[in-house]
Amino acid sequence: MAVILLTGGAGYVGSHACVALAAAGHSPVLFDDFSNAREDVPDRLARLTGAPVPCYRGDVRDPAALGRVLAAQNPDAVMHFAALKAVGESMDRPLDYMAVNIAGLVTLLGAMEAAGLRRLVYSSSATVYGVPDVTPTPESAPRRAVNPYGFTKIKGEEILEQLAASDPRWAVGVLRYFNPAGAHESAMIGEDPSGRPNNLVPLIARVAAGQLRRLEVFGDDYSTPDGTGVRDYIHVMDLAEGHRLSVERLLAGAPGHVLNLGTGRGHSVLEVLAAYGRAVGRELPYRVVPRRPGDVPVYCADPARAEAELGFRARRDLDEICRSSWAWVRGQAARRA
Ligand code: WQD
Repeated sequence: MAVILLTGGAGYVGSHACVALAAAGHSPVLFDDFSNAREDVPDRLARLTGAPVPCYRGDVRDPAALGRVLAAQNPDAVMHFAALKAVGESMDRPLDYMAVNIAGLVTLLGAMEAAGLRRLVYSSSATVYGVPDVTPTPESAPRRAVNPYGFTKIKGEEILEQLAASDPRWAVGVLRYFNPAGAHESAMIGEDPSGRPNNLVPLIARVAAGQLRRLEVFGDDYSTPDGTGVRDYIHVMDLAEGHRLSVERLLAGAPGHVLNLGTGRGHSVLEVLAAYGRAVGRELPYRVVPRRPGDVPVYCADPARAEAELGFRARRDLDEICRSSWAWVRGQAARRA
């Protein structure tokens, strides 16, 4: 089994990938600056995996910190989660997004090269498709930057393409996430953003927990069945399994890949709200407000290539996403009581 370094490993997707890797017998190592993760995540992960999870505090823009962890742990591969990832925020902080998401990636690649390590799984995003012409969207769809976050993810993919083309020793798995949501079945880890959430499901969770009066639905005049935005919500543990399959392909010597990680099924905002209400046991209040700038009507994955190349298929549905999210949120309230 392999030692896998997870940059941003204490964060939402990273922590769930840590559990999936450990469950398969791998040895995850975390590297995180804790700018968007709770300090006690490594302890919770140790309890969940049944073994200590080494954790190094650091910034991906710090080559010395990266060099130290690579020398100390000698990993077989890296999963790169450490990034800023909210479209709306990226409109306000484009330079921060370029510094962390692009300069941070280049710094990591330099540290890996210096350590003779050239296997990487890269967190990309459906946002690289901009406003897709075709939904469900295949990996062959053109990439279009329609916001600074999407721009940084496209540049990251292009840097990795150039690197692999110039040096075939590099093996890179690019995984384009659609909309991660939900929580581990233990309710010990979950989506726990610092400050006000950007994403739909944790905001609905706040309404359910009584921390928000109601959900604001950003527009109901889209060309969708009920007029509200449609997205491909993938359970974070399905996403974590996709990462395990991707890194195991690279470890087995396979060439790199670029794959969508989604379910292929779209759900509207109102459908998600109704599903969350079923998990909570009551209808949740909302009101319709104007559209959010930068939003697109529909994002939905064509998941065929991930199934063909990795044998990946999302197994959990929207109701499981909402049930697991609600169990996590209630568990948090109990821990804080
Ligand atoms: C989902 C839907 C909103 C909040 C984001 C990131 C993207 C990716 C996935 C990392 C949309 C609607 C939302 C609210 C609402 N992350 N909504 N009221 O924008 O699809 O993508 O997460 O890769 O980069 O930007 O997700 O959860 O913000 O929105 O009506 O209070 O919910 O309009 O239709 P999005 P989201």
